Amino acid sequence: MKAELLYEGKAKKVFTVEGNDQTLVLSYKNDATAFNGVKKDVFEGKGRYNNLISAAIFTYLSQQGVASHFKQTLNDTEQLVEKTTIIPLEVVVRNIAAGSITRRLGIKEKTPFPSPLVEFYYKDDLLGDPLINDAHALLLSDVTKEELEQIKQLSLLVNKKLQPFFTEVGLQLIDFKLEFGRNYTGEIILSDEISPDTCRLWDIVTGEKMDKDVFREGLGDLVEVYEVILKRLEAVK
Ligand code: TMP
Ligand code: ASP
Repeated sequence: MKAELLYEGKAKKVFTVEGNDQTLVLSYKNDATAFNGVKKDVFEGKGRYNNLISAAIFTYLSQQGVASHFKQTLNDTEQLVEKTTIIPLEVVVRNIAAGSITRRLGIKEKTPFPSPLVEFYYKDDLLGDPLINDAHALLLSDVTKEELEQIKQLSLLVNKKLQPFFTEVGLQLIDFKLEFGRNYTGEIILSDEISPDTCRLWDIVTGEKMDKDVFREGLGDLVEVYEVILKRLEAVK
């Protein structure tokens, strides 16, 4: 089914599909990186957890009317997706202060925002994915003003849908990163992955961090935490 490796990123490989140029295979790796690749490790099982968690999230979002590139899981570590051309923007939605915003703006971790913040980062590893404003986003990507607004509104809708989804499994959605792509018709759809690599999730009862911060901050066993998330999601299916 897989034809050739199209691209290898830090956490996934992307393959073309034989005889179907509108689909791609995403293969989730066990590699974890942080701080733009400065910290690296390999965690047996991580690829499987992210593949299955991301699939569960995209399936739920689709049931909620939020379309994405996700089509189906193929096996433990691979999924079939609609081919899109990724828009070079990382869209971060924040409900509670954590991570880079605490360092950049001196906001104390755990400070809730009165309404969700949407931020754009320019997806460029060499530049370290810098924070940009709307005007920069229009300059650096091929989106129109209307499409940028559409991307913001879609990101806020994903936030609205994912908050109760995670609350049901005892997790608070602190923040997350989304990527969007353009499909063959030119439509902008949600792409990439949504997983504990790309979200901050805190246990509602204990406050424990249950996402990639476990690795970034050296808090414990990353795979154990990802396993708990998948088990909780499977339990409410
Ligand atoms: P930040 O606080 O480091 O800016 O991260 C905000 C959210 O975005 C957090 O949930 C982690 C996610 N994220 C990614 O998925 N990829 C990245 O490269 C970065 C920097 C953050
Ligand atoms: N900065 C990303 C993160 O911490 C990973 C990386 O860029 O290596 O999520």
